[in-house]
Amino acid sequence: MHILGISGSLRQNSLNTAALQACSDLLPPGVTMSVFDLAPVPLYNEDVRTQGLPASVQQLREQIRAADALVIATPEYNYSMSGVLKNAIDWASRPPEQPFDGKPIALIGATPGGLGTSRAQYHLRQVFVYLNGRLLNRPEVFISSAPSKFDASGKLTDAATADTLGKMLVALTELARQSTG
Ligand SMILES: Cc1cc2nc3c(=O)[nH]c(=O)nc-3n(C[C@H](O)[C@H](O)[C@H](O)COP(=O)(O)O)c2cc1C
Repeated sequence: MHILGISGSLRQNSLNTAALQACSDLLPPGVTMSVFDLAPVPLYNEDVRTQGLPASVQQLREQIRAADALVIATPEYNYSMSGVLKNAIDWASRPPEQPFDGKPIALIGATPGGLGTSRAQYHLRQVFVYLNGRLLNRPEVFISSAPSKFDASGKLTDAATADTLGKMLVALTELARQSTG
């Protein structure tokens, strides 16, 4: 079973990318994980799409399709998901055969703020209603006051957050097993 991680932040010291890296250390037995780098994905342009998908978008779509499940880590920007993340979802979602259809997906998010990206995550859930993703309902992972939960190298140091991430990964893996029958 393979999980693809997608971070909605391009920042080198991103808390959200750090949270995905923490997931890589907490995987259930027999599960592997890789993280897709959204930096090469251009801004969406329908003219470009009709001439042929950019290589980075093709890779994103293929890796989403090949993954048994996704973990999407979203920053919260102005009470919603980051533009970087929405742009990538928009590219990947275009026909034919949009790869989110039926895909098991867990959302996580980290912020210095107190509400743990909950508002951004509920916007994302709305997006995936349209795209027919199979969203994990619980445990929800809202990492608030995040700078106090990672060390200077980006390693997760908060035991309660690690516990929740571990439980989320077990539940996501179970959802993926149910999805493949
Ligand atoms: C344009 C912008 C808008 C932001 N809006 C919010 C917000 O609505 N809620 C929040 O909790 N944090 C907000 N923040 C702070 C981010 O949560 C913070 O910068 C966080 O570290 C971004 O995620 P990253 O560390 O993965 O890059 C905002 C930051 C930016 C740059």
